[in-house]
Amino acid sequence: MAIIIDGGKIAQDIRNEVRLAVQQIKEKNGIAPGLAVILVGDDPASRVYVGKKAQDCAEVGFLSRVEKLPSDTGENKLLHLIKELNADKAIHGILVQLPVPKQINTEKIIEAIDPCKDVDGFHPYNVGRLVAGSPDRPSCTPYGIMELLDRSGVAIAGKEAVIVGRSNIVGKPMALMLLARHATITVCHTKTKDLAAVTRRADILVAAAGKEAMIRGDMVKDGVVVIDVGTNRSREGKLVGDVAFAEVAPRASYITPVPGGVGPMTRAMLMKNTLKAAQSIIAG
Ligand code: GUN
Repeated sequence: MAIIIDGGKIAQDIRNEVRLAVQQIKEKNGIAPGLAVILVGDDPASRVYVGKKAQDCAEVGFLSRVEKLPSDTGENKLLHLIKELNADKAIHGILVQLPVPKQINTEKIIEAIDPCKDVDGFHPYNVGRLVAGSPDRPSCTPYGIMELLDRSGVAIAGKEAVIVGRSNIVGKPMALMLLARHATITVCHTKTKDLAAVTRRADILVAAAGKEAMIRGDMVKDGVVVIDVGTNRSREGKLVGDVAFAEVAPRASYITPVPGGVGPMTRAMLMKNTLKAAQSIIAG
């Protein structure tokens, strides 16, 4: 039976580390790192996420500013707010909660954020740094997964890593981060032929397809390390991953649960990226 990686515990460790670093910044520089989160519209899930981010900020000692804008907000209004936050000396990180309403062009918004304050790591500058192998602001979910692997003592170099899903937020940056650590990587997607034949090769399998229980017990080899990024709602309304946990866990050496695996890490790495942004802005 696999070792279950406790993402809640590792995320708490990271928040504790951030909190200590924040105390040092406050003592030395007299200011706290500041994170601005912008929410456009009233999507219930997004509201919950934004509320939790503000809670995390309070725990680590950040200044937190939450801007809630109505769902009919125009693109120019949002661009104007980002410009203001880019110039605000008290703000070191800016996050626009995605998705934004249809009248707003997501790419334009992301590109308006000062790359240094882009704590999501979505700006093309930060994506380019990641591709070049020296990321400044690694995007939070794959960055959190690297921490889960490292802090669990999973070796990466030379391993066969298979990623299911090719999103800009998870699949693509995940592949680049594992590549930078010398894994041999394969990225699977909806057009992949014989998915099971590919996933069975994996020493490290990252499931980020957004489809409940798509990774079954017969799709993995013994000893595999399984990272489940799925956040799906089951028919009963429960939060479930992309991995059929009961089938896969007995074959795995390590596995992340849903909930309590990758989810808490994404938020913890947002705190870490905001700390890093503040440190680099304060250092000049
Ligand atoms: N919506 C869902 N995940 C994310 C994320 O990581 N960052 C932002 N900005 N919005 C999201």
